[in-house]
Formats: sequence, C-alpha cells, structure tokens
Amino acid sequence: MSLLELREVTRTVIPQDQPALTILNGIDLTIEPGDHVSIVGRSGSGKSTLLNMLGLLDLPTSGEITFDDRPVRSYSSAARDRLRGAGIGFVFQQFNLLPGRTALENVTMPLLYSSGRTFWRRKKIAAEMLELVGLEHRLSSLPDRLSGGEQQRVAIARSLVRGPRLILADEPTGALDLDTGQSVMELIDEVATRTGAAQVTITHDPTIARRARRHFRLDRGVLTAVDDPSLEPLTRRDRREMAPADDDPAVLAARGFGADPTEDAALERGDA
Ligand SMILES: Nc1ncnc2c1ncn2[C@@H]1O[C@H](COP(=O)(O)OP(=O)(O)OP(=O)(O)O)[C@@H](O)[C@H]1O
Ligand SMILES: [Mg+2]
Repeated sequence: MSLLELREVTRTVIPQDQPALTILNGIDLTIEPGDHVSIVGRSGSGKSTLLNMLGLLDLPTSGEITFDDRPVRSYSSAARDRLRGAGIGFVFQQFNLLPGRTALENVTMPLLYSSGRTFWRRKKIAAEMLELVGLEHRLSSLPDRLSGGEQQRVAIARSLVRGPRLILADEPTGALDLDTGQSVMELIDEVATRTGAAQVTITHDPTIARRARRHFRLDRGVLTAVDDPSLEPLTRRDRREMAPADDDPAVLAARGFGADPTEDAALERGDA
C-alpha cells in the first residue's frame, strides 16, 4: 500500500489576460511509508507547486492523487484539511513562527486542533517535542530571542508534534548556514526514522538532496528520477537562480556558493 501516489498529474493556471500556463506536466510519483525522496530543480520549475499538491493544499488540473490508496478528490475540503492536519507536517524556509508567542506556545498550537487532550497534556507533549529538538532550555523564549537554527528547530518541533506520516520540506535549510542546515536535516531524519514518517525534501543543495534514498529532478514541470542529484553539476548561474531571493555575497558564501571562480571547476569535478 502506498502512502501517496500521483498519476499523470498536471497543474495548469490561467493568469489574467494571459494564455494558460502548464506548471506541472505528467507527474508520476509514488511515496511509500517511511520513504525518503529529494527533488531538485531550478527556480520556477514548479517545485513549490508540486509540494502544495503533495500536501493536499491544491488539487491537480488533471490526473489523480491518492492518499492511503484513496483518491484525494473524493474527500471534502474539510476532510482534506483534517487529513493534512493529522498526517502531514510542513517545514518551510521561512520559519513562520508566531512572533508574540513562546517556543512552547508555538509548538502547542497544532495540538489545539486535535481533540481529547487537556491543556496540561498538550503542554507536556509540546515540551517533550522541544526537548527532542534540543531546546528544553528555551521553552519560554520568544522567537526573536532565538537564533535562525533554533527558530527552525521550533518550527520543526511544531510541524512534527502531531506525529505526521509524511514530512514535506521546501528549502528547509535555505535560511541557515551550512553546518546548522546539516544538523537541522539530521534532526528531521532522526524524528522521521523514529516515527516511520516518509520525507520529501525540496532543495537546491545537492548535499542535502543526497541524504534522501531516491532522487528526482524537476525541469519545467517534468519530474525525472536521477541516480544522484549531483550528476548534472550546476553552474554558478544555475545556483544563483535557484537560490532564494537574496544575492548577498556573505549569505551565498555561508551557503557554500563561493565567490571564488575555482569553485565552479571544483563543482564540475564533483568534489564540492
Ligand atoms: N497561481 C499562479 N499563477 C500564475 N503563475 C503561477 C502560479 N503559481 C505558480 N506560477 C508560476 O509557475 C512557476 C512555478 O512556480 P513554483 O513556485 O512552483 O516554482 P519553484 O520551483 O518553487 O521556484 P523557487 O525555487 O523559486 O521557489 C513559476 O514560473 C511561477 O511564476
Ligand atoms: Mg519554491
């Protein structure tokens, strides 16, 4: 039995006063329980659009998506919301924490939507989750008092506190330096292994992508399986295009996009 399956999924939008735009084209993808999949692709290739589809936030224009072998289309939108809330955890590049709330309150939030838990029980579950991500000493800290890595840990604790069966991550390390990014990914792996959750990670970083068991590349809305995400080395221009909006050299350097021209040569050789 598959957890999530996409068959010939297409997503077309019709922007105002413009011709129809096909963002995703003939996507076939099966995610098994406990699976670990990475997807790389250029900016604008349709990665986030695909992630929204995997997360049951949007329905395909054509083709079919099944969750637990049941067509997603057959669920009412409220039933889809419940399925998503209980079964899917999202990790984004932006941490999206509620600014006026403590770490503990942020992580408690998703539990308010699951019935049958008392106030104290919810607090206990949230505190345990924060302990799991190494933040037991930061329970009452507000987000603006936490480092980027710590904020992402809180965001991960919040995403995973309901024990999702599918973890969807869209550039989860995009706002973090390399080392912090690696440790955040290790943390997600650890929780996923412990709970048996499947993971889909979207990233432009081949090192992060390589952590997955199966690799895919999205190119202009077409998804292809690749043996290794670093097989087709990216030029610096590709990387710049894929990188999130900022082009601050310091930030790029922190993410490993060196300004040193010899880096491209190193990349081509595959030892970057
Ligand atoms: N509702 C929409 N209406 C019109 N165009 C859209 C819509 N949603 C997405 N697009 C376009 O579809 C393409 C794919 O968008 P998407 O956000 O999925 O790209 P992406 O691969 O996630 O890019 P990035 O790496 O920059 O985040 C883009 O060209 C985008 O402008
Ligand atoms: Mg995107």
